Amino acid sequence: MDPDKKDRFEKRFTDILNYGALNLAMAIGYKTGLFDVMAQENRPLSRIEIAGLANADKRYVEEWLGIMATGRVIEIVTENPVCPLYFLPQEHAVFLSKKGRSSMAVYTQEIPMLTEIALEAVVSDFSRGEGIPFSQYPRFQAFMTELSNNKFRDGLVEKFIPDVVGGELINRLESGIRVCDLGCGQGVAVRLLAKAFPESTFIGIDNHEAAIHVAREALSDDQLKNVKFVCEDAALIQDKEEYHRQFDYVFAFDAIHDQTRPLDALKGVRHMMAPGGWFSMIDIDAQSDHEGNMGHPMGPFLYTVSLMHCLPVGLQDNGAGLGMMWGRTKALELLRQAGFKDPQALEMAYDPFNVHYLCRT
Ligand SMILES: C[S@@+](CC[C@H](N)C(=O)[O-])C[C@H]1O[C@@H](n2cnc3c(N)ncnc32)[C@H](O)[C@@H]1O
Repeated sequence: MDPDKKDRFEKRFTDILNYGALNLAMAIGYKTGLFDVMAQENRPLSRIEIAGLANADKRYVEEWLGIMATGRVIEIVTENPVCPLYFLPQEHAVFLSKKGRSSMAVYTQEIPMLTEIALEAVVSDFSRGEGIPFSQYPRFQAFMTELSNNKFRDGLVEKFIPDVVGGELINRLESGIRVCDLGCGQGVAVRLLAKAFPESTFIGIDNHEAAIHVAREALSDDQLKNVKFVCEDAALIQDKEEYHRQFDYVFAFDAIHDQTRPLDALKGVRHMMAPGGWFSMIDIDAQSDHEGNMGHPMGPFLYTVSLMHCLPVGLQDNGAGLGMMWGRTKALELLRQAGFKDPQALEMAYDPFNVHYLCRT
């Protein structure tokens, strides 16, 4: 045994335990609004002030500040042990407050939520590999909406759309085309697009009835007339005449890898596309082998989300079980199998964690 290697791993092990604990405590700070009040005040605060501003119990806040300070998320600016002051630097606040321009704080919710709702089910399915029904994840769609609001609010209309086919898509959207969002969830993306491009018509498709219901309700709040939502299994679309060649642009954000029959869903996309149409599949950027992902900055995080959600829901009913980290090679292979001749994998400058697979009819 190499003693140095053992020491190094012991140190890493300590870091792992600390970072896991920090993720959980940061999730609590996000949920209870503690980061938000500290970011808003932008000055050193006592625990009593923080508790008052966030309407929280001061002993809980004190314990939480202990985690944030020792975890170097929040700074102690006065070393007065009787009444220390705590400061959230702006350089940290941009990631942590809900309104921060680079807010990543919503991601702190993901592992605690999946642990709470699926840990036992996943552990017990390890011996069977049968997968876990989507109904096991009742809070998933609401979480996805929070995440998508965060992700799309600045990026979708201003950055992603103008970049597709060198600006040709935005021209077509402005003139008026038929667009489908496949696996739309609660419809965040498609509603943003429908608002931005009133000349075009939009349809959001998802097989999750409750998500479609929420999407429809949001629609009446928005008073949008150019979008509708339909509950449909993407795998069955290829057999339905009413969808044949109906769409000039189809997109699927983060919605192919966790389907049980992704190949059939992609064949459905081809069935839906009008001649000259485009399909954008946006998915996590990864390699298809573990070795290739050794340098991925979020490898363990993304594989864990996949293990706890994407893989088990994709394994249902003898499903493909691609998992979120299926990677470029498998993705391009599946697109070709579905009949797309020359799918391209395009980097997205403003979103390095995803890749844009652009396909033509
Ligand atoms: C990770 S979520 C992404 C949602 C949305 N596109 C977004 O980016 O916020 C994946 C979505 O695909 C949907 N989905 C999974 N299997 C499907 C199927 N067979 N047909 C239609 N939608 C499906 C799920 O219900 C879920 O809403």
